[in-house]
Amino acid sequence: MGRLRNLISIQDLTREDIDLILDTSAKMESVAVKRSKELEGKIMATLFFEPSTRTRLSFESAMIRLGGSILGFADVATSSAGGKGETLADTIRTVERYADVIVIRHNLDGSARLAAEFSRIPVINAGSGSEEHPTQALLDLYSIRKLKGKIDGISISLCGDLKYGRTVHSLGMALSYYGVTVKLAAPPGLRMKPAIIDEMKKAGLRVTEVDTLEEAVKDVDVVYMTRIQKERFPDVRDYDAVQGKFRLRLQDVGMMRQDAVILHPLPRVDEIEPEVDKTPQAKYFDQVYNGVITRMALLRLILG
Ligand code: CP
Repeated sequence: MGRLRNLISIQDLTREDIDLILDTSAKMESVAVKRSKELEGKIMATLFFEPSTRTRLSFESAMIRLGGSILGFADVATSSAGGKGETLADTIRTVERYADVIVIRHNLDGSARLAAEFSRIPVINAGSGSEEHPTQALLDLYSIRKLKGKIDGISISLCGDLKYGRTVHSLGMALSYYGVTVKLAAPPGLRMKPAIIDEMKKAGLRVTEVDTLEEAVKDVDVVYMTRIQKERFPDVRDYDAVQGKFRLRLQDVGMMRQDAVILHPLPRVDEIEPEVDKTPQAKYFDQVYNGVITRMALLRLILG
């Protein structure tokens, strides 16, 4: 791939780009432990207009493990964008003078693309509204490859809030590059956007929609659970109507293949019962660490 500049949508990448990032991630496993000085002198700015635990901290951990430095804000209220009404464009035109790469999370669709248009330094989308979360898709693919040994040929169920969940939008589009079978399972009103289903089908994926979690967990290699995105619902009554509808219980795990794995981008609210955490299929906390590994690979390819 040519030198990667921005990562706004997973569709900015080709299959070859993604495979290179995943191969580079595998090389980062030992670097993550030993640490490196490869990005010494480079500065990463994290601009988080929305809450985060994993994405921000794993980006920061990745940069520190590569010898780079970090600055930024985790609470927009402490920035001039929150406190004084500064525009996103002016925020970006300021921060680009302080750093070598910007990692941005924002509540609005299109925000990361807009930031990239105003920035003279690379911009990485760490979650834009309900639109996309491309680096989560990279770590999800890496987790699948690490756990199942491959991506081509697997079967996967995407479960939960497929309408507002930005991780499943990016993952669905990323899976279009691979020969996989996909089941989609969502509560009423939270089905996957038709455009993404069309994209997957056009790419030759076998895609079926099922109504229940019971149907979703059977006969697949990967069960990918997601949280109902309460903060995206225009009317909280619509949230109340679906809340708790898709809840993975021990008895559901009993219906899964023995060698199947459960992934979740986290945070979890109540969609996976805590008892499931102890089962051999539960891999979502291992998945968290892969966020450090894949973000190290990405920073190295962009800045190295
Ligand atoms: N998976 C994910 O984006 O988690 P955070 O919201 O904690 O960053």
